[in-house]
Amino acid sequence: MDYPKKLVKQILAATKDMPLEGFLSGQGSIEPKVMFVGEAPGRTEIETHIPFSGQAGKWLDEWLESINLKRSDIYITSVVRSRPFHTRKKLNKKTGEFTFSHPNRTPTKKEILIHAPLIDFEIQSIKPKILAPMGNSALHRLLGNQYKISDWHGKLFDSKIQVLNDEANGYQLSHETYKIFPLYHPAAVLYNSKLKNVIEEDWQKLSEII
Ligand code: URA
Repeated sequence: MDYPKKLVKQILAATKDMPLEGFLSGQGSIEPKVMFVGEAPGRTEIETHIPFSGQAGKWLDEWLESINLKRSDIYITSVVRSRPFHTRKKLNKKTGEFTFSHPNRTPTKKEILIHAPLIDFEIQSIKPKILAPMGNSALHRLLGNQYKISDWHGKLFDSKIQVLNDEANGYQLSHETYKIFPLYHPAAVLYNSKLKNVIEEDWQKLSEII
């Protein structure tokens, strides 16, 4: 989706000194069957410019296919649009030199707040029939920190969502009500393979709802 240029400029300016890399827009149908919301792009996504094109994306594609959805049927975005990274310093004992690596990390609450106008814009433009936050970062952003993905995954409910408040320092509830269907983040299965069956059942429920 093309975002208002002013909005992107404002967000890039506010994050320029933060450990964030690149910028990836949300992608897909603007009349989607489901709007999926992830956490933040990783290294692969920043290189390919395609959301969920890394390891977690392989699982996402498998589950989409299992319910006959194509990427062109859906819209995918995330609560942060740049790659959050750590800096790790490691001593190479042979050479005595330090090397640095920059692995992906979870975005901070502050980074998510700065990006809030973008996802608000996407949701207001698309007016999704079903809004599927994937994982805790997306669920907390849209519904509040009291929600836990382990309690709410695979449940369909109607709710207002959190949108940026007028002071731009926190959230307020939207006027509109949305159909929400939380899912585990696809990367969850990379850390805990036992979740695979539960996640597959949730996707089958999603298929029945669509
Ligand atoms: N995780 C996300 O939330 N989004 C991506 O595009 C990749 C991994």
